[in-house]
Amino acid sequence: MGVPLRALLATSGLCAALVFVVRRALPWLQARRERQASPLLEAAQRARQARQQARESEDRVRLLLDSTVEAICGLDLDGLVTFCNPAALRILGLSAPEQLLGRSFYAMARLPGAEQALPAVWIEAAVHTYAHLDQELQLRRDDGALVPVQHSAAAMLRQGKLVGRVVTFLDIAERKRAEEALRKSQAQLRMADRLATVGTLSAGVAHEINNPLAYTVANLSFVQDALARLPDSMPGVDVAELRASIAEASEGAERVRRIVKDMKTLSRMDDERIGVVDVEAALDASVNMAIHELRHRAQVVKDYARVPLVRCNEGRLVQVFLNLLVNAAQAITGNAPERNEVRLATCVDGRGRVAVEISDTGVGIPEEVLPRIFDPFFTTKPVGVGTGLGLSICHSLVTGMGGDIEVASKVGVGTRFLIVLPAAGA
Ligand SMILES: Nc1ncnc2c1ncn2[C@@H]1O[C@H](COP(=O)(O)OP(=O)(O)OP(=O)(O)O)[C@@H](O)[C@H]1O
Ligand SMILES: [Mg+2]
Repeated sequence: MGVPLRALLATSGLCAALVFVVRRALPWLQARRERQASPLLEAAQRARQARQQARESEDRVRLLLDSTVEAICGLDLDGLVTFCNPAALRILGLSAPEQLLGRSFYAMARLPGAEQALPAVWIEAAVHTYAHLDQELQLRRDDGALVPVQHSAAAMLRQGKLVGRVVTFLDIAERKRAEEALRKSQAQLRMADRLATVGTLSAGVAHEINNPLAYTVANLSFVQDALARLPDSMPGVDVAELRASIAEASEGAERVRRIVKDMKTLSRMDDERIGVVDVEAALDASVNMAIHELRHRAQVVKDYARVPLVRCNEGRLVQVFLNLLVNAAQAITGNAPERNEVRLATCVDGRGRVAVEISDTGVGIPEEVLPRIFDPFFTTKPVGVGTGLGLSICHSLVTGMGGDIEVASKVGVGTRFLIVLPAAGA
């Protein structure tokens, strides 16, 4: 049965009208939906941008913290590390943050030169103060090595309330080495200057004393011989007393002769011959010469490493060792040779130079005296025992050989002299 044409026309007209209405309404509906959704979209977009900015800023901060040569650590109020950058790990010889996080920062630190860790009160004050701290410290690495650092610490505040500390530190080992080298070379310059002055002076004085001393000694010896020929008792003359007086005068003259000889050595007026010298043989010769002084004070221990020969004047080298050995013996008080030691050790140092160490278990040298011991005529010994020339002679001779002499001492423990000389082949 067919659809009547009129009905068909009516239906299609309705459809067209519907399509027309829907077409008109769609954009309006869409706009309305968009209008409703846009605050949400904007918020989401803003959140996305904020996240992106936060990520970028975090990246920037991380890059800064990772790239700086200065070590940075965050500490909590117990002084425990809550944050660290790679420079902090590098200075402390660590490879991962986990090795540092949670550890007490100041437990790793000590004051320069101190052997003990920082006192608990110091740490407590350093962690809880609002003040800015600037302090040189030494940090102990896990392998036991001490790293000198310049450390500064500031309070970490949140709304005015202390929440921790931010600690920054810089490895200053290189700077310390340079300062030490500068201090040493300045001290050496000062010493060389002083020695040059005293050397010139000594040379003149030694020359002036030598002539009258020669005829004093000759005449004393003549009188001594004459007195020896006299009978022991003579009326009105106490021959024994005369002999004793002359013997005492001769002893005094002999001491003057030794001092003049030392002064000549100081000004290097003596024998100048240079040769190739076996350091260990020179040490043995010195021990033999000083054995009377040493025997009753200490045991002599030799720890030789068969070192290369050095080029110098043998007599001078023996004199250097002799002066050091006599000083070592004189520094050991009491009568307990079995409990004391004078040790002679040789080795080759990292630069191929011959190192000789003469150490004793004597009284040691107080810190305030230490800078003066190489000064000419500086002595702490009673008149007649020391003239104070021994070490200045050692210094002058060793530096004249192109070497170096250093001292380390601790009161009540002992003293160690280290002499380093260039090997003959160098
Ligand atoms: N091994 C040592 N132990 C302790 N103190 C020392 C030692 N060596 C040197 N000294 C100190 O250094 C000072 C200077 O020593 P130096 O050898 O120059 O002179 P001296 O021994 O006093 O006199 P001299 O050597 O002219 O007889 C000594 O007086 C002493 O105080
Ligand atoms: Mg001496």
